[in-house]
Amino acid sequence: MGEGEGDVDVEGAGAGEAPGDIAGTHDLAGKTIVITGASSGIGRSAATSLAAQGAEVAVVGRNEQRTTDIARRIGATAFVADFDSFADVRRLADALLNRYERIDVLANNAGGLVKKRALTEDGNERTIQSNHLSPFLLTSLLLPRLRENAKESPVRIIATASAGNRFGRIRLADLDRRNSAWLGGWLAYCTAKLANIVNTRELAARTEGSGIEAYAFHPGFVASSFAADTGLMRVATLAGNGHLGASPEVGAAPLVHLASVESTGSPSGTYFDGFTPNGRTSPQAGDPTLAARLWSLSERITGSEQ
Ligand SMILES: NC(=O)c1ccc[n+]([C@@H]2O[C@H](COP(=O)([O-])OP(=O)(O)OC[C@H]3O[C@@H](n4cnc5c(N)ncnc54)[C@H](OP(=O)(O)O)[C@@H]3O)[C@@H](O)[C@H]2O)c1
Repeated sequence: MGEGEGDVDVEGAGAGEAPGDIAGTHDLAGKTIVITGASSGIGRSAATSLAAQGAEVAVVGRNEQRTTDIARRIGATAFVADFDSFADVRRLADALLNRYERIDVLANNAGGLVKKRALTEDGNERTIQSNHLSPFLLTSLLLPRLRENAKESPVRIIATASAGNRFGRIRLADLDRRNSAWLGGWLAYCTAKLANIVNTRELAARTEGSGIEAYAFHPGFVASSFAADTGLMRVATLAGNGHLGASPEVGAAPLVHLASVESTGSPSGTYFDGFTPNGRTSPQAGDPTLAARLWSLSERITGSEQ
């Protein structure tokens, strides 16, 4: 993506460890990058870094104050949308399409754990909607424009997934987990993150040869607002003497890297653990039939059939 930068060799780079060419040194002038979940944590840090490299950044957040604050601080444009609402996602897509003729990178980063089982106004379990269905809808609504843009130069769609995907289990007949164990929301969260990886592979297959590249990545264990209100995180923080996980800057580095390097060195559809391609996944991540069926189901639920 960055002008005048050579390819980056990611071989041997461990999770959370920047490859030789440190992310953050590209000239991204002229590039437009949309980052959801940019009001906090990993997304805020990635937005800050990408804006500092010259990109026009669209920061998307749920909390209006936090989102406009960060946008003002880094010279970006703020967009507010709650992913618990498909109507909000549709308004967001319209606003982005009106504002930008060209989008170079769409980073679907918003998400998190929802502790209590609850439904959105659209009737879906909140974790599955905010982490999988709403980013799916946003991507679908932007896709015709992204396909046009990709005819001129490559476009990237990046999903912030999680190593937790290995504990997820996609049941198409019970995507919402109404009839499945809850365990404080962790299983729904891990399932949604597995869906991010499955969907990234399906998106790569559907956009093959179009100039669109789709990637998913695990940011590492990052100290952010993620799951901060859960007993597990409170215990882990106490055990770590108040320190828990890497900084948001370290967690954002793989996202900044994927958004800015000229070539990722890996085929579209790749899931990275930090900077390392082909991170460990649930066996379901390699099932193309499941991926195609999840895509159709997500289209039906979000009303985004094309
Ligand atoms: N932290 C980790 O260890 C870790 C590990 C693996 C994956 N991840 C993933 O990394 C991504 C970023 O998380 P983070 O660690 O930076 O946590 P964070 O600080 O809580 O940031 C999450 C961002 O997503 C936004 N968001 C959450 N639910 C939303 C909704 N319903 N609608 C719109 N926006 C919503 C939040 O908005 P508000 O500011 O309004 O809350 C915030 O901007 C998430 O997808 C998370 O699942 C994190």
